[in-house]
Amino acid sequence: MIQLQNQKWIPSASPVAGLEAEMAIEARHLHVYYDDFLAVRDVDLQIVANKITAIIGPSGCGKSSMLRAFNRMNELVPSARTEGQVLFHDQDIYAPQIDPVEVRRRIGMVFQKPNPFPKSIFDNIAWGMKINGFQGSKKELEESVEISLRAAALWDEVKDKLHQSGLSLSGGQQQRLCIARAIAVKPDIILMDEPASALDPIATLKIEELMHDLTSEYTIIVVTHNMQQAARVSDYTAFFTMDAGRAGVLMEYGVTSEIFTNPRSKVTEDYITGRFG
Ligand SMILES: Nc1ncnc2c1ncn2[C@@H]1O[C@H](COP(=O)(O)OP(=O)(O)O)[C@@H](O)[C@H]1O
Ligand SMILES: [Mg+2]
Repeated sequence: MIQLQNQKWIPSASPVAGLEAEMAIEARHLHVYYDDFLAVRDVDLQIVANKITAIIGPSGCGKSSMLRAFNRMNELVPSARTEGQVLFHDQDIYAPQIDPVEVRRRIGMVFQKPNPFPKSIFDNIAWGMKINGFQGSKKELEESVEISLRAAALWDEVKDKLHQSGLSLSGGQQQRLCIARAIAVKPDIILMDEPASALDPIATLKIEELMHDLTSEYTIIVVTHNMQQAARVSDYTAFFTMDAGRAGVLMEYGVTSEIFTNPRSKVTEDYITGRFG
């Protein structure tokens, strides 16, 4: 491995130091490479359970690479390589005995562009449950589909057309369907990569409200390039940046209201006030 220089600036402490908060997942000395290109650079990041953590920063700084490292999705990119640890329930999800499929069930993902399966609304949810080993009766399956659709604030809009194609829904409804599909397999954590950036303002607000409601049961990590959104929805914010052309530097991490009102670094301040990025 190439010897890395120390980061120019290192977060002084966990934002939750002393708060006795429960951690949902933690990256330690995490590096993500694409061939020789280092996209995430020696990141330590503790994510608090049942809260929303936003990952912000300029385009290309490594936000998506960081997010995908939390459920081993980078492995689907042939050139990608991960070093370091991601601890989840005291286990390194990159340990050789760990099944990445199980990791991705426990740590789900919602993408920027809503991607329902070309199946009915009902089957979009039921199918994932079945391939994850659901063995209940038809009635139990129907109940579980309803619970997931309710949890994703979509039930009332689709209850009379469950057998229509998921693709017939509006963009915002499709994204809530994808969230319902993620919830249906009972994850602990939901990763969201710019989940509202393809949606109109009203659909965006609905997704943001939904994210907030979901924290009673789930931990959410959301990538967003929308500063107002990060400020509105998240409890904690991790600001990534490019440092002298090097991507994947975690510049600052802390309680969202503090990052936005009293950033510790000039680079963060310039970014959140729109002077850069
Ligand atoms: N599949 C890939 N192959 C090679 N380089 C990649 C790949 N995906 C991302 N990168 C590079 O890694 C860096 C970080 O990308 P990404 O994590 O997508 O950033 P962000 O989400 O912040 O825009 C960028 O320079 C990007 O070009
Ligand atoms: Mg991205």
